[in-house]
Amino acid sequence: MKIGIDKIGFYAPHLYVDMTKLADRRNVDPDKFTIGIGQDKMAVAPITQDAVTLAANAALGILDEQDKNDIDFVIFGTETGVDSSKSAAVYVHELLGLNPYARAIEVKQACYGATAGIQMAKAHIAMNPESKVLVLGSDIARYGLNTPGEATQGAGAVALLVSAAPHIMSLEDQSVYVTSDIMDFWRPVYSDKAFADGKLSNEQYMAFFSKVWQQYKAKSGLGLENFEAITFHLPYTKMGKKALKPVLEETTEDVQERLKANYQLSTGYNRNVGNIYTGSLYLSLLSLLEQKDDLAAGSRIGLFSYGSGAVGEFFTGILQNDYRDHLHVKQHAELFAARKEVTVDEYEAIFEETLPTDGSRVELDINNDPAKICLAGVTDHKRQYVNKLR
Ligand code: COA
Repeated sequence: MKIGIDKIGFYAPHLYVDMTKLADRRNVDPDKFTIGIGQDKMAVAPITQDAVTLAANAALGILDEQDKNDIDFVIFGTETGVDSSKSAAVYVHELLGLNPYARAIEVKQACYGATAGIQMAKAHIAMNPESKVLVLGSDIARYGLNTPGEATQGAGAVALLVSAAPHIMSLEDQSVYVTSDIMDFWRPVYSDKAFADGKLSNEQYMAFFSKVWQQYKAKSGLGLENFEAITFHLPYTKMGKKALKPVLEETTEDVQERLKANYQLSTGYNRNVGNIYTGSLYLSLLSLLEQKDDLAAGSRIGLFSYGSGAVGEFFTGILQNDYRDHLHVKQHAELFAARKEVTVDEYEAIFEETLPTDGSRVELDINNDPAKICLAGVTDHKRQYVNKLR
């Protein structure tokens, strides 16, 4: 039985800051951000968007009534969830009006959560071929103003519908995963900003990729020449390039050129959104599929997932016949085109805006947020979400 990705949706908040203007303000050479790190624009989440609304908006764009009825499992990967107890998946389940006979859970392991969700979805569908699973990866990456991590912030969500007989990509069974206790990036429960040992996180990311790739080759007997493209978790777009470079020596120049060119295409959306943590790998996959119109059906794509702390996994998928007919290229182009630039001052003010933590009531103006699903306020410690389509 084929199991895999049937639909992919994406949502980013409607605001962004230009990285060259941020560099100017921070007295940094803009080339450091646009070339050294590889980011052009950074999505900025207004207070009316959180991990729940970003994910719900990403899923809203792809699900039809049949999907809503067939989904019996919602798996929400996030490291910036809104509640330590109730899962973000339950809110999304309600906001989208999904079949009540469904499971809804949240999965956490830094940027790896959505990958764990996909593998759980695959196992669930193997047991229940009629079901569809909604896997969400949604986050707002925050390191703090004027920190080394600031240039690698971002916000957004990816929604993946996983099913049997998938229209976009079937997932192959070979996969290699590895865990090791490393303090390269973490966020204590009392902090709304992440802490990172940037240099260590870069080193470990590359070491994990090398480890899972070598193990994958030994297990599968396949090599780089068997791949049309390899996509990466992208905390910033230079990161995957740094990991891919050393292994390219294993293959011919032709294959190297192909993988490098496809890597470049796979960074396009991420370069203009920033780090979206759990969704970043899938945003990169989407970027490749939607921006390259001649990837042949049957092509094998590699996916490297990395969640600091750390868990890494390498797995693969095969593009299905007519997969392009099932992408939402126009919808995503419109989303990018409709975004609005904010000044660095505006970005800083939005960054500092926080919700009350003492139970006091706040009503937020959702008229300025074009998203269909928004956070409208907080009452008695309860977030009030609105689906404007209802
Ligand atoms: N022109 C072009 N490139 C420049 C440059 C310039 N003027 N100035 C610096 N650079 C390059 C550096 O050479 C470096 O490239 P390299 O990594 O290929 O060597 C890159 O820009 C970044 O410079 P660096 O001095 O290392 O940046 P930094 O110390 O400010 O921090 C991160 C970069 C990514 C470590 C930091 O943003 C961070 O901690 N981010 C959060 C954690 C993270 O994303 N980790 C990734 C793995 S999960």
